[in-house]
Amino acid sequence: MSTTTNQTAEMSPHSQQIASGVFEVQHPLIECHLTALRDATTSPLSFRAHVRRLATLLAYEATQDLSIEMVPVTTPLTKTTGGKLAQRIGLIPILRAGLGMVDPVLDLIPTAEVWHLGLYRDEDTAQPVEYYSKLPPDHPVDVALVVDPMLATGGSMLAALETLKKWGVGQVKLLSIIASEEGIKHVETEYPDTQIYVCKIDPELNDVKYIVPGLGDAGDRIFNTL
Ligand code: URA
Repeated sequence: MSTTTNQTAEMSPHSQQIASGVFEVQHPLIECHLTALRDATTSPLSFRAHVRRLATLLAYEATQDLSIEMVPVTTPLTKTTGGKLAQRIGLIPILRAGLGMVDPVLDLIPTAEVWHLGLYRDEDTAQPVEYYSKLPPDHPVDVALVVDPMLATGGSMLAALETLKKWGVGQVKLLSIIASEEGIKHVETEYPDTQIYVCKIDPELNDVKYIVPGLGDAGDRIFNTL
C-alpha cells in the first residue's frame, strides 16, 4: 500500500503570498521572536534560541507541500495507515550563519540529509565566494531546503542555487528569517521556480549591504564573534 499525496504551498492561513513563489509567514509568535532577534541587547544565548524557534516555524510552513506516502502502521490496538515522507529531503545550510537553523529543521525532519555550502561575502565587493561544497557528483536530493537567516543582496543564495541546480535538485526552497526586497527580487528574477519563505521582508540595504532595520550580522550574533 503506498499512495503518494501532494499538498499545495498556497494552503496555509499563516503565509502571505508576496509574489508567485514568495511567502512571508505571519504569526504572532514570529513577530515576538523576531523583535527579540532585532534587539541589539539580546545575548548570543537568547539570539540562538530565537533563531531556532523562528526556523521551526518557518520550516513548518515551508514543508506544507511535501509529498507523503501512505504506509501501514500497527498501533498497540490495531492495524491502520499513516504517512511517511515520500521524497529525499536535503537541508543545505549556508555557512556559517545557516548552521543556526540546522538543528530545529532536523528535529522536524530527522531523515533529512545535511549538505553544507560554504559561501562568504567578500566585504569589498559584497560578492559571494564559494569555499566549501562536498555535494556528490550524482544522486541529488528531491527537495532542498536552503537555510540562511539573512537574504540580503541575494548573491549567496544565487550562488547556492546555481550549485544546487547543477547538482540536479528538483525543487528548491529558501528559508530566511529576514530578507531584503532587493534580495528577493534577484532570486525571483534568476530562479523563478524557487520558493522563498521568510519571516519578514525589510525594505532596505545600507551602503555595506546590510539589511535595514535588520538585526546586524547574524553569524556574529549566533557565534558571539562580534
Ligand atoms: N548578513 C547578515 O548577517 N546581516 C545582514 O544584514 C546582511 C547579511
